[in-house]
Amino acid sequence: MSRLLRIKPMSLLTQEANEEGEHTLKRSLGAMNLITLGIGAIIGAGIFVLTGQAAAVHAGPAVALSFVLAGITCAFAGLCYAEFASIIPIAGSAYTYGYATLGEFVAWIIGWDLGLEYGFGAATVASGWAGYFNSLLQQLHIYIPPQLTATPGTPLVFFQNRWMPQASLPAGVSPVGLQHATGLFNLVAILAILLVTTVLVIGIKESANLNSTIVVVKLGIVGVFLVIGIYFIAKHPHLAWANWHPYFPPSDGHGNFGFKGIATGAASIFFAYIGFDAVSTAAQEAKNPQKDMPLGILGSLVICTILYIVVSTVLTGLVNYKSLNVADPVALGIDATGVKWGSLLVKIGAVFGLATVMLVMLLGQSRVFFSMSRDGLLPKWASEIHPKFRTPWISTIVVGAIVAIMPGFLPIDRLAELVNIGTLLAFTIVCAGVWVLRVRHPDMHRPFRTPLVPLVPILGIITALYLMTNLPLITWMVMFGWLLVGLIIYFGYSVKHSKVQALSIADEAD
Ligand code: ALA
Repeated sequence: MSRLLRIKPMSLLTQEANEEGEHTLKRSLGAMNLITLGIGAIIGAGIFVLTGQAAAVHAGPAVALSFVLAGITCAFAGLCYAEFASIIPIAGSAYTYGYATLGEFVAWIIGWDLGLEYGFGAATVASGWAGYFNSLLQQLHIYIPPQLTATPGTPLVFFQNRWMPQASLPAGVSPVGLQHATGLFNLVAILAILLVTTVLVIGIKESANLNSTIVVVKLGIVGVFLVIGIYFIAKHPHLAWANWHPYFPPSDGHGNFGFKGIATGAASIFFAYIGFDAVSTAAQEAKNPQKDMPLGILGSLVICTILYIVVSTVLTGLVNYKSLNVADPVALGIDATGVKWGSLLVKIGAVFGLATVMLVMLLGQSRVFFSMSRDGLLPKWASEIHPKFRTPWISTIVVGAIVAIMPGFLPIDRLAELVNIGTLLAFTIVCAGVWVLRVRHPDMHRPFRTPLVPLVPILGIITALYLMTNLPLITWMVMFGWLLVGLIIYFGYSVKHSKVQALSIADEAD
């Protein structure tokens, strides 16, 4: 039992953090790079796609309050992440923090669980990306065979010169008489992941620069949407007023709408916030991690929270929430203002913007596997660094190949729910970890201190668990299935190859 609780010594972590040479990652990212890395990861399919669905299916116009609730949950976790990231500036995120504080077994669970967050996260975004890309092509009258743009069995219809899921038809439009097709698999989403994987193999510096440029584009697009939307609402307040009423549509008895719908909505759009923790996975590539990690994590989180509340309020003011269950709700919102070039611009921006999210998610995933492999918990090839590009190329390619399959066959909402439950679980463990570390090592140097410990970690745990209880049973079952596979690998491989275990056994023998 005590073997499972072995922790990775701080001295070893610090030594790894300070290593340099051709087998290590390049330290090339400053504070601004990290904030943009965070924003690059955060603003994505959540706000561009899932907001529409959450408003239409779960919360109505009160989806803005869902963003507040999810944002509060993230703030607690973000404060805890920031403390850890400042103490342990090593690639690997929550996995590494868990290893240093709660022991190898918990670390393994977090590392494996992060696969749900980053791997499935990239898959979810790829699915959203494909929706906007396809919508953009159709606006330009370019048509990919519809069967290759949707998951298996999705009924599609041709309406107003474009193919769309039958479920996205505007309320009151009958599918009878429209041309029909059935989805085979989402080829566009698969290709997106493969393309991003190629960029990541080539290198982090190049990727980070590309990311910064695209983040500016993404923020610009959100800005354009807000300016056009707010101007329109100011000129037609009665339209917005009608769309915002009822603000809390009556409950459907299944946890949707009414006040309960705010929580269900929060559990679903929680996805929109995921990413600030991905900043921590780049700690080993940061120039000054102690100071810049907390800035990167909290700075990006605050900026995005404010944007989300405003964007969702404007969107539900422009379009009635019932019509928002489409692949490109933000473009639909701008269409409603009558500004003809707006939706084209939003779609182009989303296509570039969502690409950066896939990039950071896949980057995070391969870095977590990199760290686990360096610790001996995964086979050696996963931490193999490319001699020229200095990137963990094999783990990047393996992760990319596996992740590419998912959005081809699973719908975006199911994928997002899995990501949410995995991430919320990681949050609870990180919050607990900060508290445990304060008790066990009260005097440790902490360049950033989470305020009000243990209150903030406890609130972080409670809010994350609360959101988890609002996710469907099937999501819980898949999460347990995933963890079970992880346990089999842990006891079948990792226990025997763990470097920390080997070190401890050697120490005991001395
Ligand atoms: N927060 C990221 C997104 O919404 C994962 O796409």
